[in-house]
Amino acid sequence: MPLLSELKGRSLVEPDDLSLDEMESLFTLAEKIEKKEGHLKESCRGKLLASLFFEPSTRTRLSFEAAMLRLGGSCLGFAEPGSSSAAKGESLADTIRMAASYADVIVMRNPKEGSALLAARYSSVPVVNAGDGGHHHPTQTLTDLLTIKRLLGNIGNITVGFCGDLKFGRTVHSLSKALSRYKNIKMLFISPKELMLPEYIKSFLIKNNIEFEERENLEKSMPELDVLYMTRVQRERFFNEDDYIRLKDTYVLNTEKMAYGREKLVVLHPLPRVNEISVEVDSDPRAAYFSQAKYGMYVRMALLASILGAAC
Ligand code: NCD
Repeated sequence: MPLLSELKGRSLVEPDDLSLDEMESLFTLAEKIEKKEGHLKESCRGKLLASLFFEPSTRTRLSFEAAMLRLGGSCLGFAEPGSSSAAKGESLADTIRMAASYADVIVMRNPKEGSALLAARYSSVPVVNAGDGGHHHPTQTLTDLLTIKRLLGNIGNITVGFCGDLKFGRTVHSLSKALSRYKNIKMLFISPKELMLPEYIKSFLIKNNIEFEERENLEKSMPELDVLYMTRVQRERFFNEDDYIRLKDTYVLNTEKMAYGREKLVVLHPLPRVNEISVEVDSDPRAAYFSQAKYGMYVRMALLASILGAAC
């Protein structure tokens, strides 16, 4: 795959760092890895991944580490900043310079917006952004797009509803930007007024002539959707707890609301969920959030192999 060889040595800070062709090639490789057991199995032998998680994570960290181990590579790092020298006041730039001298690739999650870009600038090895505050989360976007492609056959000509915390939800910011590169995409942003999409994302969509609407009612929007992307209200990004408590249960997807959805609707959620999807929805064949998490590992394998120059 000649295109993927161009990813060698590159960082991924936000979805725009990948061209549409590069994303598509990553999906093709991820599908090959999924179908052909053992594909690229030893391709990263001898390579080290540093996973630096300054914020909690289950899927992103574990799927990156699983991806690296399945490629034959090894992992080191920390899962919470209290156990790193950040707790002693070390700057991010210094932590990154150190990690870059031990590892071949760095995967970092950090609560500060812009931290991934800073890390990429200080690092001598590629940095993959695993979430920088309420800003971006590009590998979740790769996961989301691959899931849509697998379940709907292609990514164009669809209406996607984003519901919940669209203000702080970094997965929404990254996915809406990336979706805008596909043909004939309509987006409905369903949220309470306080949690509407940030202006900079809206300006981006307007500049790119993307059809979108902002709404408050989930039920009424359900019949129009091919994909419903539910999100958690991001408690950790609120300035006061009272606002969080007031807004946290604005939307709860349950069987009654699912009844308004199309037969082929795909329900996604980056997870973790709190209350926004009732467990009764899990057994609905349209609930795809657990398979979505699994696709995340394959696409991260494809990405790591490409960045480390081992994709073929
Ligand atoms: C998301 C994140 O961290 O932004 N989770 C994930 O990576 N799968 C969504 C969230 O935490 O709500």
